Amino acid sequence: MTLHANDLVDTELHRAVSQVGLDVEYTRSRGNTMWARGKDGGEIAVTDFISGYGSLILGHNNPEIVARAKELLDRDTPVHAQVSLRPEAASVAAALNRIVHREFGTDEPHHAVFANSGAEAVEVAVKHAEMDRRLRLAELLVAVEEHITEARGAIAQGTAALAPAVLTALGLPATAAPEVALDALEARVRAFDDHTHPAIAPRLLSLVGGFHGKLMGSIQLTHNPQFRTPFTELSAQSRFVPVDRPDALRAVFEAERTPLLDVSVEDGVVDVVERDAPVFCALLVEPVQGEGGIVPISPEFAKELQSLSAEFDCPLVIDEVQTGAGRSGAFFAGSLLPLRGDYYTLAKSLGGGLAKTAVTLIREARYRPQFELVHSSTFAKDAFSSGIALKVLELLEADGGAAYGVAAERGARLVEALEAVRAEYDDIISDVRGVGLLVGVEFADRSAVGSPMVRQTQPAGLFGFLVSGFLLHEHRIRVMPTGSAPNTLRLEPSIALTDDEISGLAEGLREVCAILRDQDDARLTAFVGARTF
Ligand code: F0G
Repeated sequence: MTLHANDLVDTELHRAVSQVGLDVEYTRSRGNTMWARGKDGGEIAVTDFISGYGSLILGHNNPEIVARAKELLDRDTPVHAQVSLRPEAASVAAALNRIVHREFGTDEPHHAVFANSGAEAVEVAVKHAEMDRRLRLAELLVAVEEHITEARGAIAQGTAALAPAVLTALGLPATAAPEVALDALEARVRAFDDHTHPAIAPRLLSLVGGFHGKLMGSIQLTHNPQFRTPFTELSAQSRFVPVDRPDALRAVFEAERTPLLDVSVEDGVVDVVERDAPVFCALLVEPVQGEGGIVPISPEFAKELQSLSAEFDCPLVIDEVQTGAGRSGAFFAGSLLPLRGDYYTLAKSLGGGLAKTAVTLIREARYRPQFELVHSSTFAKDAFSSGIALKVLELLEADGGAAYGVAAERGARLVEALEAVRAEYDDIISDVRGVGLLVGVEFADRSAVGSPMVRQTQPAGLFGFLVSGFLLHEHRIRVMPTGSAPNTLRLEPSIALTDDEISGLAEGLREVCAILRDQDDARLTAFVGARTF
């Protein structure tokens, strides 16, 4: 049996995408262009709008980033120097702090925990949030124990009397002795000392349509049930709240609130005080839902997220893995809403397309230095990735952050061109939306129209891939649908995007729309018999 290399990696995926012509090999890439290997051995230039799932805001093999990579290697940089000072990582943290301070108008330090991928950065945030939650709970229990001791002393000395409200709150008869009440209260507090007590289990919240990674923990924060539910038994699960429904979020907070009874001694009275046990571990939000279909969060909803998370003391994790590092027209997309977090996660474009690096920023007010002693990763903070990330930050911040302006301007030009296509084909394209260079084009549902072939792609979630194959082979344009919204094409080119590349895409989409309107669907796969690559 002859075994081909391609039979050993993603065999099933390749079989599936080969049906729509996406089984192409790329041999070179630069800026927004990728070169595919042609059937005749030559190269075929393709304009890339996928951009490494949004990892290439500065383009494929950006020459200045490549030069930095070579320089790092040429000078024998100690890439791995675990448990020593890490100047490159420290410089990345300092540069990110300058950006956070500028964009969010704060001077609060943000501690940086490094990781190697977006999902890992998310898990770092949640793991840290859980450590902080457990410490807050422990601090609260110590305080309540102290208050109980104080109350016992005051009652024993006759300097205070127990308010009847204490007995009522504990469900004790009005005749119960104060010592009995304080014993009952203490027993309740001690029960919470056991972190396996279900009442104080961590509550995780995220949004319907959200995507935060596919590792064991992060997949439970990702909404798409197809990815999530096969693995629900493996880790803590999230409650999912619909976007733009602050009432639903409030209802979850109210339903999950867990009161913890405390006492106060004031003016000769031992009274009951109801506190909230810190059960909310984290609320995760993407400023623009990426994988879920390029859905921007509205400023109004952002405001509600902000105020509800503050009201219920639930740390807010802003997942900027896809939106961050300049793609939105600012470094942090959340700064445009504004949406301030306790945590920010970054990955993708931070690595400049050459390094795999990720950072979780944690605001000082939440930061627990103990975390450094229990969390680590072999590769995190390596000098090569950090050195590349530093170059990315230098390039984005150069000339007063000119790159952000370019992302905003190019994004607006792209949306304008797409809106023009939609205006001509509003029966075919139902929406164009996005922020900066993170743009989605949604096609209207075609379950009831067109040829059987196109209709079948709808329930199978393959429509976007069919269009992608057509655009690749007939227009030499690389697009892809988002994983959880298969009728929406995701467009995430680099800031090098030219007017010609935008026109090329618009032209390709016009042809797709015309074919769909004419119900001449066979043309979408006509290339299959005559593939040039
Ligand atoms: N968070 C967000 C917002 C993401 O978009 C992604 C990945 C992750 C976390 C996980 O990052 O893949 O480096 O572990 N999004 C990809 C996508 C898969 O399709 O946009 P990762």
